[in-house]
Amino acid sequence: MKGKKVQEQQIPAGVSFAGKVVLVTGAASGIGRAVALAFGRAGAAVVVADVAVDGGHSTAAMIVEGGGKALFVATDVTQGSEVAAMVDKTVQRYGRLDCAVNSAGLFEEGSTLAELDEAVYDRVMDVNVKGAWLSMKYQLRQMGQQGSGAIVNLSSAFGAVGAPGQGVYAASKHALAGLTKSAALEHARDGIRVNAVCAGAVRTPMLARAVGREPALEKKLRAAHPMGRFAEPAEIAHAVLWLCSEQASFVTGHELSVDGGFTAI
Ligand SMILES: NC(=O)c1ccc[n+]([C@@H]2O[C@H](COP(=O)([O-])OP(=O)(O)OC[C@H]3O[C@@H](n4cnc5c(N)ncnc54)[C@H](O)[C@@H]3O)[C@@H](O)[C@H]2O)c1
Repeated sequence: MKGKKVQEQQIPAGVSFAGKVVLVTGAASGIGRAVALAFGRAGAAVVVADVAVDGGHSTAAMIVEGGGKALFVATDVTQGSEVAAMVDKTVQRYGRLDCAVNSAGLFEEGSTLAELDEAVYDRVMDVNVKGAWLSMKYQLRQMGQQGSGAIVNLSSAFGAVGAPGQGVYAASKHALAGLTKSAALEHARDGIRVNAVCAGAVRTPMLARAVGREPALEKKLRAAHPMGRFAEPAEIAHAVLWLCSEQASFVTGHELSVDGGFTAI
């Protein structure tokens, strides 16, 4: 299937989220935005959370213009008080939290571990690991009170294999696997499922920035994907919506590869 056609398909067939309340972090851009738009089209009330205010408002406006319901909540996921407020505002506005997708993430300039800057390490681990944990912490509390819920964390093919030159990113996504599986086990009997999507390279502003910094990366990355192309954000959204849906009712603690064969090699 060609990329353009894939991009146009916003909702996985047969998946409706009418009446559901969904929270998406990192929803101002890229995969988070595609996920938020797909949920909006599938009938959910969507809380768009991001530290980027303009992009967050734009995503919420796009959902409303498409006939859906959305609320933007400015949130830095590395700050516990802001994350707690994000979940509180969701419940105040829409009464509950059925699904949460944690897509806020950072992919910084590459360097070997021997050359890595401490500040870069701290930034990446702070957003990708602490931010995901804090998000789940408050999402799980709310879902625990309800006795139901589904969470999907945005991980990467580099959550399963090493990434020379991006060791801290790979470490952060391996850590996310530990958080995802542990949360799934802690809540397996509470009606709450927790899974991750491990994406290959996806055509988003994050990827564009990485290629802008290092143009040779595009060819190298493309060659690492047996399908010979990058994913469109909507292709990742499809997998996320399926994992959040009743169709995945017996799936928990799973790392779903959506990577064009990257980790099959
Ligand atoms: N694009 C890819 O190739 C790719 C591949 C695999 C996994 N991922 C993962 O998917 C997720 C989304 O990536 P993307 O490509 O859409 O990136 P993106 O840069 O387009 O979007 C990431 C969003 O996260 C937000 N964010 C960053 N720090 C934040 C913070 N402290 N609090 C709240 N929001 C914050 C940014 O403002 C941005 O809107 C990330 O977790 C990334 O690691 C991306």
